[in-house]
Amino acid sequence: MANAGDRVSPGVDAREKWDRVYRGAEGGETPQPARVLAENAHLLPGSGTALDLACGLGGNALFLARRGLRTQAYDISPVALARLEARAGQLGLGVETEARDVAAYPPAAASFDVIVVSRFLDRGLAHSLVEALRPGGLLFYQTYTAEKTSAAGPSNPAYLPRPNELLELFGELRVVVYREEGRIGETARGFRDEALLVGLKI
Ligand SMILES: C[S@@+](CC[C@H](N)C(=O)[O-])C[C@H]1O[C@@H](n2cnc3c(N)ncnc32)[C@H](O)[C@@H]1O
Repeated sequence: MANAGDRVSPGVDAREKWDRVYRGAEGGETPQPARVLAENAHLLPGSGTALDLACGLGGNALFLARRGLRTQAYDISPVALARLEARAGQLGLGVETEARDVAAYPPAAASFDVIVVSRFLDRGLAHSLVEALRPGGLLFYQTYTAEKTSAAGPSNPAYLPRPNELLELFGELRVVVYREEGRIGETARGFRDEALLVGLKI
């Protein structure tokens, strides 16, 4: 496991917070990919490089590796990454993990064919994510929104995009899929509390 996150201090609070969360989490089942990836997996390339950014326990990374993509996974929490490595090992999947504060060290330009981000929002990273894709690359993004129908996810608006905000943040991409239902209509049904976007780098 590489350690870019160790070189900087601004992420130390976040790292400690998330390490505590993952130390407390139960071992249990294999983490699952986000809906944006599972439901749109037919868009994935047959080969290439993929990144699960702010991967946590790495449900997206495991899914990408199983699809045959050369997969990296970045997170600020070494505890989460250690658990991901153990699970990838049990499943015989190759996932290269890196403890990395992505706010301080965004992914390098033109490095990935696929980037997946789920349940993480740092508005300042949006342009770097677009830059990190190779031409023809895909961004799969899903995160909690400000317009929720339940208490799921964070309450701090800093982490919750406004209606259509993901479309604005990733306006440089060609939007392939977008879904955000807010509180419209029959709120007990549908895809609620989150927005999802798949965008193509032209
Ligand atoms: C709500 S969890 C989502 C994890 C995973 N993507 C998922 O969908 O289950 C947010 C993740 O962001 C990571 N994180 C928070 N700040 C970060 C930063 N500055 N750099 C890298 N990862 C960060 C946390 O460690 C945590 O794993």
